[in-house]
Amino acid sequence: MIQALRGMKDIMSPQNETFTYIVETASKIAKRYGYEYIETPLLEETQLFKRSVGESSDIVGKEMYQFIDKGGHDVCLRPEGTAGIVRAFIQNKLDKRGGVHRFYYHGPMFRYERPQKGRLREFHQFGCETFGEESVYEDFTIILMIKDIFDALGIKYTIKINSLGCPECMPGYRESLVSHLSDIEDGLCEDCQRRITTNPIRVLDCKVAGCKTLLESSPVIVDNLCEKCDTDFGRLSALLTSHGIEYELDPKLVRGLDYYTKTAFEFVSTEVGAQSAIAGGGRYDRLVEFLGGKPTPAVGFALGIERIMELVKLPQREREGLYLGVMQEQALEKILKIAHKKRSLETVHVEYSARSLKAHLKAADRMGVRFCAVIGEDELKNSQIWVKDLQNKEEMRVGIEEF
Ligand code: HAM
Repeated sequence: MIQALRGMKDIMSPQNETFTYIVETASKIAKRYGYEYIETPLLEETQLFKRSVGESSDIVGKEMYQFIDKGGHDVCLRPEGTAGIVRAFIQNKLDKRGGVHRFYYHGPMFRYERPQKGRLREFHQFGCETFGEESVYEDFTIILMIKDIFDALGIKYTIKINSLGCPECMPGYRESLVSHLSDIEDGLCEDCQRRITTNPIRVLDCKVAGCKTLLESSPVIVDNLCEKCDTDFGRLSALLTSHGIEYELDPKLVRGLDYYTKTAFEFVSTEVGAQSAIAGGGRYDRLVEFLGGKPTPAVGFALGIERIMELVKLPQREREGLYLGVMQEQALEKILKIAHKKRSLETVHVEYSARSLKAHLKAADRMGVRFCAVIGEDELKNSQIWVKDLQNKEEMRVGIEEF
């Protein structure tokens, strides 16, 4: 038997209900914050991710679904959504138009990771990206929006924030970090030793216990920010505090993608096991320019839908829709006509086989519909239909035309 690939899942009943509830709730909130829907291709030029997410990142270095297509192009399935949206933003010349543009999206992302609970090879993200807004108030507003989304879904979280500085303060910090790392190099794991030259900042969030201990005394970015970055980061912290939003300052939060500048944040759940990051994002003021567009500040986030699926509390579902059945086959024509008319108003399920009333009621109840309507022998003779409201438990017999 052919099975789905490792780390890839079918989303079927009953999880499909939670999945769509998450997407609908997040979309509704994002729209209220002024975001409009964007859909970009799943397949992009590999170069796009190499240049944005970064060649030294694990995502690009180890986890891409990359291949040469029939036309000889080096392409890959998107490992994340931001790069494609930046490409679309530039390609559609929105960078030249100026102003603020806000997009939300959801869909599958692909990373060839080692699958485990909460970590898949095909997973789904919901995300938002704002272009053209330099103000740190936007960073705050995005964090507030994610909070609104998780609150609406009934999910508990901790917020971690950090600042990764800008081209003015980052190089100086990087130098002092590299110098510190070189001193402790021998005690670091192989990955970290390699990262000293390729991507020293990433060393900071190494999970290996030995590295963690050695890194305790390493210089941190927030102590080395330039005045502008420091002021903005201070303002973000103050805004969160004044709005009663609890957060943790995590100077070692560096994110796994290379495009970030200034604000970086993560929402972490205490309820989902090892893979606890349920959303992440930050500012990426340099990326539009880096990919060939006009310099445009940008900030965004994405949340992992599968990671929160088990935590979501679905609201009590109201009975809805109509179930139609017959007790004799001759009545089927009539039922099909009714079904077609009723479908302009509500969801209609039709049972084609003639069954007893009891069997129809049982099936209708299982489907969670509000009404069960059946044509029996008497009803067929009198052009009537028998209807039961499964919520109020009321029964009636009405003329088919009237129904
Ligand atoms: P990310 O932190 O790589 O950021 O992914 C965002 C979220 O996607 C994570 O917090 C996690 O919930 C989920 N996720 C990541 N990998 C997996 C996986 N293998 N299986 C299941 N869930 C996963 C980004 O992707 C950035 N594009 C976010 C962003 C948008 N930054 C700015 N704008």
